[in-house]
Amino acid sequence: MARKKLIRFKEALEFDNVYALEKLSDFKFAKGYKKKILEIGCGHGLFSLEYAKNNPDTFVLGIDVKLDRIFKGANIGIQEGLKNLYFFRCPVVFLKDHLKNIKFDEIWITFPDPHSKLSGIKKRLTFDFCLNIYKSLLTDSGYVYLKTDSVLMYNYTLFQINKYNLNFTDFTFVNEYPISYDFKTVFEMKYLNLGKKIKRLKFNLKNFKLK
Ligand SMILES: C[S@@+](CC[C@H](N)C(=O)[O-])C[C@H]1O[C@@H](n2cnc3c(N)ncnc32)[C@H](O)[C@@H]1O
Repeated sequence: MARKKLIRFKEALEFDNVYALEKLSDFKFAKGYKKKILEIGCGHGLFSLEYAKNNPDTFVLGIDVKLDRIFKGANIGIQEGLKNLYFFRCPVVFLKDHLKNIKFDEIWITFPDPHSKLSGIKKRLTFDFCLNIYKSLLTDSGYVYLKTDSVLMYNYTLFQINKYNLNFTDFTFVNEYPISYDFKTVFEMKYLNLGKKIKRLKFNLKNFKLK
């Protein structure tokens, strides 16, 4: 690991708003919040940060495998005194084991890697196995929200929605959509500067049964 990354990695683990597989929490303190949201693959955590700032009554948890990225959002969160913003360094595959006590009202997947090769399909964050995990973490009335620049990721997720007969709304070609879609991520700002169009999907997992 490069030196700067290593320093950030170590510092992030010392933040009060950061947890990891080597620094676990049962997240019982989330119970006091009326609404709870989870950002998957949060990267630098700027979406989670904006969400928490704009919704002080909501418990916001960003998860990612890269602690050096999490450092940024967590550090700003501390500087701005946000008490409802937390981060967890954890791969999706282990979330069920560590978030047993919480159900989320919204799960946000923000600019996931499309893994364009067929061999990478199982790594996509809307692959069947991931959807099964999200179902266990969502309330019955909860929704998954995707925003992506990737045509492949958008089409693949529509394919999954169709395969599992899920209720969904496509906010890609309309001007009115939930305001939280406008909380920008680092990758989003990069893609917007390149003139890419953002695609937005919302779906629930009530009908989902792993095939
Ligand atoms: C393209 S980046 C997007 C980051 C951020 N959402 C943004 O828009 O700026 C994708 C992120 O997903 C994370 N990621 C990929 N697979 C993951 C997994 N299985 N579990 C947790 N995080 C994952 C990566 O570490 C990376 O930070």
